[in-house]
Amino acid sequence: MSEQRVNFGSKLGMVLATAGSAVGLGNVWRFPYMAGQNGGATFIIIYIVCVLLLGLPCILGEFIIGRHGAANTARAYSRISGGSPWRFVGYMGVLTGFLITGYYAVVSGWCLQYIFASFMGELNGDPAYISRYFADFSSSPLRPVLWTVAILAATHFIIIRGVRQGIERASKAMMPTLFILLLIVVVSSCMLPGASKGVEFLFRPDFSKMNGSMLLAAMGQSFYSLSIGMGCLCTFASYFSRQTNLVRSAANIIAIDTFIAILAGLMIFPAAFSVGINPDSGPSLIFITLPNVFQQAFASMPLIGMLVAVLFYILLSLAALTSLISLHEVSTAFLSEEFRMPRPRAALVITVVCSVIGAFCSLSIGGRDWLVVCGKSLFDVFDFVTGQLLLPFGGFLTCIYLGWFAPRKIVRDEFTNWGTLSGRFFSLYLLLVRFVCPICIMLIFLNQLGLIG
Ligand code: TRP
Repeated sequence: MSEQRVNFGSKLGMVLATAGSAVGLGNVWRFPYMAGQNGGATFIIIYIVCVLLLGLPCILGEFIIGRHGAANTARAYSRISGGSPWRFVGYMGVLTGFLITGYYAVVSGWCLQYIFASFMGELNGDPAYISRYFADFSSSPLRPVLWTVAILAATHFIIIRGVRQGIERASKAMMPTLFILLLIVVVSSCMLPGASKGVEFLFRPDFSKMNGSMLLAAMGQSFYSLSIGMGCLCTFASYFSRQTNLVRSAANIIAIDTFIAILAGLMIFPAAFSVGINPDSGPSLIFITLPNVFQQAFASMPLIGMLVAVLFYILLSLAALTSLISLHEVSTAFLSEEFRMPRPRAALVITVVCSVIGAFCSLSIGGRDWLVVCGKSLFDVFDFVTGQLLLPFGGFLTCIYLGWFAPRKIVRDEFTNWGTLSGRFFSLYLLLVRFVCPICIMLIFLNQLGLIG
C-alpha cells in the first residue's frame, strides 16, 4: 500500500466535506416530516439516542475500513478482508451508491425548480392549486428531467476537479452558506406570531406518544441522514490522513448533522404552527405544505415571504448538492481506480448513466405504464430497494464484519491512530458493533419489510 493517495488538504475541509455528505435532503426534507408525523419532541429524543448508539459506531466502522484501505469502497473492503467474500459488501456499497444517485438527483432537481417557481411567484395560490402544481410538475415529461440533468452536471463539474480543488473547496464554500441561510430562515420563522407553539412541538416531549414503530422510524432516519451503508463515508475516509482522529471526526459529523436537522425543524414547525397548518403531511411537506405556509405566514409582507421561500429552496439545493457529490464520488472513485480510467472520463460515464437512470425515475412518476414494476413506479422501486433494503443491509454486514471477523489489530490501530490516541472507548465500541448495532439494524430491516412493528 505504498501508493500515494490524495488527502483532504485541511481538517476543516475534511469535516465540512464529510458533513456535507451527511447533511442533505435527509435533514431538511425527511427529518422534519418524520418528526412531524411522529409527534415532534419525542421522536427527536429517540432519534438522538439512535444517532449515538447506532450512527456513531457505523460511521466509525466505515471510517476504519476506508482509511485502512486508502482506495475506493470495493477495494477497501477487499484489502481489509484479504480478498475473502466479505469484499462483496464493498461492491454492494458501490452499487447501492450508484443506483441511488439518479433517484436522489431527481428530488434535488425539484428543489432547483422550486427556487425559480417561488421567485417567479408561480407558487402563489390556494392550497389545492399548490398541490396540483407539484403533481403536474413532478409528473411532467420534460422539466423535472432537465433539472435532474442540471444538478448532475453541477455535481460533475465539482467532481472532475478532484478531491481538494473540487470536493473540498466546494464544501468549504457551500456548507457555511447553507448554515447562514438556515439561520436567516429560522429567525424569520421564529419571529412569526404564534411561532412558539412550533418550538414547543419540537422541544416538549410527550412520552405517552412513544411507540415501537416510532423507534424503528427513528433508527431508519439516523441511517439515511448520516449517509451510512453506501460507501460514501468509506470513500471519503480513504482521503483522510493518518493524523485524522477518527472517533472525534465521527462525533463532529453527528453533531453537525443533528444540529442542522433540528434547525430545519425550527425553520418549518414555527411557521407551520403560526398559520395553524399541521406539519404531518409526510413526504409532500416541503413541496406542498411549505409553499402554503410561507404564503400564509407572510401574507402581509409578500416580498419577505418570497425571499424566505427562495432562500429556503436555495439552502435545500445546496444541502442536496453536497450529498450528491459524495454519492457520485463513490462510483467515480470505483470506476477510475478499478478500470484505470482517467478521473474526468470515469466521472462522465457516471454522470451520463445516472442522468439516464434519473430520467427514467422521474418519468415513472407520471404513471407511465412501461415504467411500473411490481405495481410501483420506478421511482418508488429505487427508493425502496436502495434506501430501505440495501442501506440497512450494508450497514448490518459492515458491523458484523468489523465486530466478528476483521483483524482486531487493524481495527484497534485505526481506532487509536496506531496507539497514539487513547483506546479507552475501544471495548465499548466493540460491544456496539458486535451486538447492539446488528440487532438494532435487524429490527429496522424487519420493520421496513413490514414483518414487525
Ligand atoms: N445523508 C444524505 C441526506 O441526509 C443522503 C445520503 C448521501 C446518503 N449519501 C448517502 C444516504 C449514503 C445513505 C447513504 O440527505
